[in-house]
Amino acid sequence: MTLDLLLLGFGHVGRRFVRLLGERADRLAQEEGLTVRLAGVATRRSGCVRATAPAGLDPAAALAAVEGGHRLETLADVAPAADALALIRDAARDNPAAAEGRLIVVETTVLDIARGRPAIDHVQAALAAGAHVVTANKGPVAFAYDTLKAAADRAGRRFLFEGAVMDGIPVFNLARETMPVVTVYGFRGVINSTTNYILTAMEEGRGFEQALAEMQAAGIAEADASLDVDGWDAAAKTAALANVLMGAGLTPHDVRRTGIGGVARAAVEAAAAGGHRIKLVCSATRRGGTIETRVAPEELPAADLLAGLRGGENALEIDTDLLGRFAIVQRDSSLTQTAYALLADVVTVGRGPSPSAPPPMRPDRTP
Ligand SMILES: NC(=O)c1ccc[n+]([C@@H]2O[C@H](COP(=O)([O-])OP(=O)(O)OC[C@H]3O[C@@H](n4cnc5c(N)ncnc54)[C@H](OP(=O)(O)O)[C@@H]3O)[C@@H](O)[C@H]2O)c1
Repeated sequence: MTLDLLLLGFGHVGRRFVRLLGERADRLAQEEGLTVRLAGVATRRSGCVRATAPAGLDPAAALAAVEGGHRLETLADVAPAADALALIRDAARDNPAAAEGRLIVVETTVLDIARGRPAIDHVQAALAAGAHVVTANKGPVAFAYDTLKAAADRAGRRFLFEGAVMDGIPVFNLARETMPVVTVYGFRGVINSTTNYILTAMEEGRGFEQALAEMQAAGIAEADASLDVDGWDAAAKTAALANVLMGAGLTPHDVRRTGIGGVARAAVEAAAAGGHRIKLVCSATRRGGTIETRVAPEELPAADLLAGLRGGENALEIDTDLLGRFAIVQRDSSLTQTAYALLADVVTVGRGPSPSAPPPMRPDRTP
């Protein structure tokens, strides 16, 4: 089967994803029977174009254009679109891939922490146009999971977002595929690589600014560094996890949040001298009918799993009724992992149905 991909956002994640598609093209064909065609690309400053040739956009030419500072309209066999929404409409119109469930919008635009837009609009437009949606953007799932999941179910399409939390390490897919009729009581974790990297660097006597610059150079820090430092990225991930795993219906603004801006190097060093570690911990706890969520620096004893996380490492402990408490630990974080999350979700779409399967854990599912 050939899948048509419309890529919204062609930054660090989008470009690594396109390269990964090329690197794994043979295995996608041999092991999954899937061929992928790049049907269009949308950016904010380099243009938005739809392929007019049957072969789709040439990925190498698109990469070279954007990385060389050229506009996408300079490519051969393309039609321009005004913006991402127009591109979705144009690409879906009279396109058999949309009618046949072979069109996927891959959303990799930036996180908007105020309202999650325009990414939410992109997801809604894609589903309305008959496309599936795969995204690494936390905004849609952190601000509007219930609405978008319901829209996807009504449309008979998938809305998948594995890359939104812990890059490609399966969290959402693990829960959806392997945890039927389980109730999640809560979770706690370290799920922002940039702040953990900075706190580790401070323990080692290095500076806050230098460590942040290193994460920005690696393409891992958010474009707006305050999203990481002030805890907004962690709050968005916390809301996303709580919405999907616990049916919380929250936005990042409902999460009690303190960033690491107020954590002094002396405090980090003093904690380390006493065998403790300061970590930016996110958590969610079910208390009666409500779900309390929090992101804040905490001083943890060395024996705590989260205290042992160094650099860009992440971990998430999930507390459940039937599986008890278990943890997922991510030892490396990289753009490849986020790109792989998108690739894995694309394969899930390619493997076909169960778009209307219910999410594994609803708030009303009590033990
Ligand atoms: N980087 C990571 O390690 C990582 C990990 C997990 C999740 N994520 C998430 O993945 C997403 C992409 O991250 P990134 O690092 O690739 O960001 P990035 O390098 O800043 O790239 C963002 C891309 O989105 C485009 N864009 C922004 N607003 C747009 C709009 N309204 N319409 C069309 N295109 C638009 C930008 O275009 P211009 O360049 O022209 O402005 C750029 O191509 C973010 O939501 C991020 O939170 C990132």
